[in-house]
Formats: sequence, C-alpha cells, structure tokens
Amino acid sequence: MSSAANPLRDAQDRRLPRIAGPSGLVIFGVTGDLSRKKLMPAVYDLANRGLLPPGFSLVGFARRDWEDQDFCQVVHDSVKQYARTPFREEVWRQLGAGMRFVPGVFDDDEAFARLKSTIQDLDSSRGTGGNFAFYLSVPPKFFPTVLQQLKKHELSDAPDGSWRRAVIEKPFGHDLASAQELNRVVHQVFRQSDVFRIDHYLGKETVQNILALRFANTMFEPLWNRSYVDHVQITMAEDIGIGGRAGYYDGIGAARDVIQNHLLQLLALTAMEEPSSFDAKALVTEKLKVLNAVRLPKDLGRHTVRGQYAAGWQGGRKVPGYLEEEGIDPDSRTDTYAAVKLEIDNRRWAGVPFYLRTGKRLGRRVTEIAVVFQRAPYSPFDATDTRELGQNALVIRVQPDEGITIRFGSKVPGTSMEIRDVTMDFAYGESFTESSPEAYERLILDVLLGDANLFPRHQEVERSWEILDPVEEFWEAHGRPEPYTAGTWGPQAADEMLARDGRSWRRP
Ligand code: BG6
Repeated sequence: MSSAANPLRDAQDRRLPRIAGPSGLVIFGVTGDLSRKKLMPAVYDLANRGLLPPGFSLVGFARRDWEDQDFCQVVHDSVKQYARTPFREEVWRQLGAGMRFVPGVFDDDEAFARLKSTIQDLDSSRGTGGNFAFYLSVPPKFFPTVLQQLKKHELSDAPDGSWRRAVIEKPFGHDLASAQELNRVVHQVFRQSDVFRIDHYLGKETVQNILALRFANTMFEPLWNRSYVDHVQITMAEDIGIGGRAGYYDGIGAARDVIQNHLLQLLALTAMEEPSSFDAKALVTEKLKVLNAVRLPKDLGRHTVRGQYAAGWQGGRKVPGYLEEEGIDPDSRTDTYAAVKLEIDNRRWAGVPFYLRTGKRLGRRVTEIAVVFQRAPYSPFDATDTRELGQNALVIRVQPDEGITIRFGSKVPGTSMEIRDVTMDFAYGESFTESSPEAYERLILDVLLGDANLFPRHQEVERSWEILDPVEEFWEAHGRPEPYTAGTWGPQAADEMLARDGRSWRRP
C-alpha cells in the first residue's frame, strides 16, 4: 500500500529519527578549539541520542605524539566538559572503541598512508563500509595541502557503493578571488555534491524556524513586503572579546568573520521567495536569487560603519581594548564592529533597507532579526495618547533567549485612550518539551546522511564576497575603525548612520 493511501503509516514514518548509516568521521585539526568545544561533544551527543550507527568511528589527525588512548582521553575530557546531554558510560564505551589517532603533519605522505590503512582497518573491524567524511577544521592556508593529499592517497575516491565527503569550515577565503580559488581546489578533489561548507548558523533551530514561520503560516507572509515593512534589522552582538583567536581574527575582522556568512544567510532566509521544496537545490536557487538582488548603497561612507573596542567594563570586570589583546598588532585597523545598510532590488523589497550589524564586546550576547513595520497610515488618536507607541515589530530571537516576539500597541487601562507598546512572546522553552540540539549535532548528522539543505553552495559564498568586497576596499582606503568602549552598543557613528535615515537601532 502506498503511504498516500495509508496516512497513519505516513505519520509514523515522519517520526522515525534520521539515523546515520555505517560511517566514520576524520577530523583534521582535532586539537583545535572548535574540535574540542563543538565537534567532539556533538559526536557524543549524537551517539547518546542513538543517531549514530553502532560501529561509528572517529579518527583524529594532528601533529601530536599521541596514541589512540591519548586521543580518547582528550575526547573524553571535552565530552565531559561541553556535551549537551548527560554522560553515559555505555554510550561512551561503544564510541570510544571506534576512536583512532593518526599523528602527522599535512604534507607528510607517510601519515596519509597511515590514515588510509586506519580507514581500511575500521572498515573491516567496525563495519564503516568505506563511508568517511573528512572534516577540515584547519586554518585555510592548509586547505589545498590537505585536499591534495586526500586525492594523492586516493582517500577522496569512494570505493564502489560507498561515499567520501569533505566538510569545510569557514572562512571560505577572505574575498571573492580567494574564495573562487578555494572552490576551484576543492572541486578538483571532490564533486560539488560531496562538499559540505559549514555555516553553523544554518544548523540552529531558530534559524530553520524562519522557514516554518514564513511558509507554514498564513498570517505573516501577506505583510512580508515593502507595502508594510519599514525596515529590517539583523543583529549579531557578542559580549566576548577575541579570546585566544588573535591569529585568526586580526586582519580578518567582524564583517568578514560573520557578515559575509552568518548575517547574509539570515538575510537570505528572511527575504527570499518561497522555495518550490526544501531540498538543497530549491533552497539555493531562492537564496541565490535574493542575494543577487542585494545592492550596496552608493555612499559607503554614510551607510557603513566599522568600530574597534577599547578597554571598558563588562560583567563587573575591567576588560582590555582590542589593541591591548595578546597577539594583536598595536596598530591594527581590524574591525571588531561592523554595520552595513543593504537594499534589495526586487518587487517585494524595493526601498526597504536591511541593516546588518555585528560586534564583539557589546552590551550583551544576542542575535535577532527584527522586521519593523510601518506606522499606521493615519492615526485617529490624539498625538499625546500615542507618544509612547513605537512601530509594530516581529522579532525572531535567534539566541540566547530563543523565540519570537511581536510588538504592537495596546490601550493602557484607565479613563483615557493612552496607547503603549506591549509584546506577545513565543519561547521555545515554554512551548516544547524537546530541547534544541546544538547546531553542530544537526550539521554533522546531515553530512553523514548526505543531506545538503543546510549547507551553503559555492555560488552563495562567492556572491556574498561580491557584496562585501567593495565595503572592505572602501574601509581599507579610509582611515581607522572608530573606537567604542567595551560593554556599550558600538561606535556613535553607527547610531548616526541610522539617525540619518530617521531610524534607530534596537537595544535588545
Ligand atoms: C563564528 C565566528 O563563526 O561564530 C566567531 O567566527 C563567533 O567569531 C561565533 O564568536 C559565534 O557563534 P555563536 O553560535 O556563539 O553565535
């Protein structure tokens, strides 16, 4: 009987968990921060949720004089410290039995030969079936060497009936030309459909919920256009500084670090048309279409701002300025704050500005998308009664307080017709009993399942650089970033940028 004829079975099938088939994961750069804080815990959480096959194997590759047990201990410690789900001895034992470590540097042929025989051993001892994903969690300068070594040692060639996939961590280049070159190298070794570029924001539940909010409901989409929307603000604020990441961050800066990827992906999901389905190809088509319609304002001096944090107070303690951070060139012009105004040249959004901002050491950690609506075309109320009425807004709270807020005006109880803003809230924690998986759990599982919906394609990456490159070039040619005190909401120029348009930033 077809599932269409049997709705009950169809409903049950949809509740079946998506479980990865026989497979293994090789992590290059396994001693790095990302691996310890995110990747290893995510693998354990997946195993703990029963979403990995019994013989799943994890191979670490790095320049360390480690045996398998040493690697196992490192994973154990990171799981204990960072995993989302409780530690269970039996899950750990099964996962630990499939852990291997291959010591070596990236241009060492012998190390790659050892990696090859390790994979073959795992195929016979753990039944991984030749299916391996190679996770490049390494500085971009090593990408070409690792990829070429995988090719040279035939590790990128999937034996018959199995798969080999590459997972690439950002940054995908630092401008359009370097991204194109990187994509050329990657595609010399892996087919497009076997390359998974990580943008971990797409793995967040709240980000996937943008699609549900817009396309599973009827009440929002009719308003989601230039007739009702005044402007959109996309904010990714962090309270942390650059921590131990000076080597990566200096010279890269806030705009390249997160606007080029996370924020432009949020913009694409917020502004795109409804895709014909939710498979990777249909989603990329729509995201790319809207990214192609994105336009920078002509006068970049008036519509972009960059800043750099100076010493200040945060969380009750004194924190150093960016230029005093360890490993930073005291004359660095790197932006730790960036704000950009973008327009979208299409029928839906013509004339509606999208303001994107991000920064380190801001007032607090918050990521949100605020769709701010126009004021009512006519107000029948006394001006004094609506003094405290702002603009209606729908705010998608990506993190940390996941949910959606709608802001609208309401009568203040009493004898007059005073109207004030109130909010209506949906909070994940209150509406669902399930807790949200970490972005990396979802993304690693998708790689093992070969599901590319939540991974940007190279055309999106390149288009995003094309949007950002003129801003970076403009900044390069024009002075220094404006200092802002740590713990505040960024440089004054950012407030002025919006004030010139008769608007102001939200203070989340
Ligand atoms: C990364 C950036 O992509 O995202 C970091 O490189 C940033 O600079 C991080 O701190 C923030 O991620 P999240 O999930 O904590 O918002």
